[in-house]
Amino acid sequence: MDKKQKLKIAFIGAGKVGCSLGKHLSLHGLDVVGYYSRSPVSSREAAAFTTSRVLSLPRLLTAAELVFITVPDGQIAVAAEEIARQARDENIDISGKIFCHCSGSFSAEVLTVLSAMGAYTCSLHPMLAFADKFTSYEKLKEAFFSLEGDLEIRDTVQGIISTCGNTTTIIDGEKKAEYHLAAVIASNFVLALINQSMELLADCGFSPEDSGKALAPLIQNNINTVLSRGPRESLTGPVERADIKTIEKHLAVQQGNRRKLYALLSRELVTLAESRQGNNKDYSPLLSLLDEDIQL
Ligand SMILES: NC(=O)c1ccc[n+]([C@@H]2O[C@H](COP(=O)([O-])OP(=O)(O)OC[C@H]3O[C@@H](n4cnc5c(N)ncnc54)[C@H](OP(=O)(O)O)[C@@H]3O)[C@@H](O)[C@H]2O)c1
Repeated sequence: MDKKQKLKIAFIGAGKVGCSLGKHLSLHGLDVVGYYSRSPVSSREAAAFTTSRVLSLPRLLTAAELVFITVPDGQIAVAAEEIARQARDENIDISGKIFCHCSGSFSAEVLTVLSAMGAYTCSLHPMLAFADKFTSYEKLKEAFFSLEGDLEIRDTVQGIISTCGNTTTIIDGEKKAEYHLAAVIASNFVLALINQSMELLADCGFSPEDSGKALAPLIQNNINTVLSRGPRESLTGPVERADIKTIEKHLAVQQGNRRKLYALLSRELVTLAESRQGNNKDYSPLLSLLDEDIQL
């Protein structure tokens, strides 16, 4: 067993990510020693789930060499302050220990109070939606991780993640907002659009069940094609065809923000269509039509 696998790992925050990541690491032979969370019930559940222990914060800080701070984003700085205070009050030397939060949008800078005490800090974000404490870990094997933070510990953290069979990419802390936005657009925004689509089908008389059945092949084939060929080569539909008559019909049945959103997204698709090699279609009449709505 190499050095990274012997590192004692603990979690502050026994929620969805804390439980899932702890389970994933322990299933791959890593040494998850325990949990400290705001509520004892959560700590107990997570410890039982990962066959580890419930720890007080001082005991956790003493025992662990790598601490995952898996609290909500707004609590990361609060938890870091609490760690620093406990370390000072209890005379616990945290220098050389690694503190890692899992937020997609914050960088390791939010843990500065711990760097000032000689600890290493980083952020490690799994690009995955965790909906449940006890089942989401099953999906973790597919997750791609991004890592940013102190150079000295990147290999160690990356090594731990690769031991679990996952890939990590290093990103710049200043890019985290853009990085997280990318994830939000690809997951949450797609959900907003599918919801709009289902509402339109409901208006056409579809039951929720039938709209799901009707859209499933469209959504699944589209995603598969985009992932294999890329967005540009997957593009079809009225915008790509510069089919103004159809787009006028679509605009006519929408009002307000949704109509504006349709125009803005269609403009994005025009840009994509125009970038296709060998596409000589004239999109200028369509752009003029869309701009009337965008400027409203
Ligand atoms: N959920 C996702 O899809 C997802 C995906 C990627 C990354 N992340 C990131 O993962 C982190 C955790 O998110 P999550 O979804 O796991 O949140 P969550 O399910 O709400 O769990 C957070 C846990 O932290 C505990 N907690 C809150 N404040 C605390 C504090 N000050 N000290 C100690 N424990 C505290 C909570 O309280 P109790 O002890 O009362 O239960 C809860 O168990 C966030 O940074 C988030 O951005 C989330």
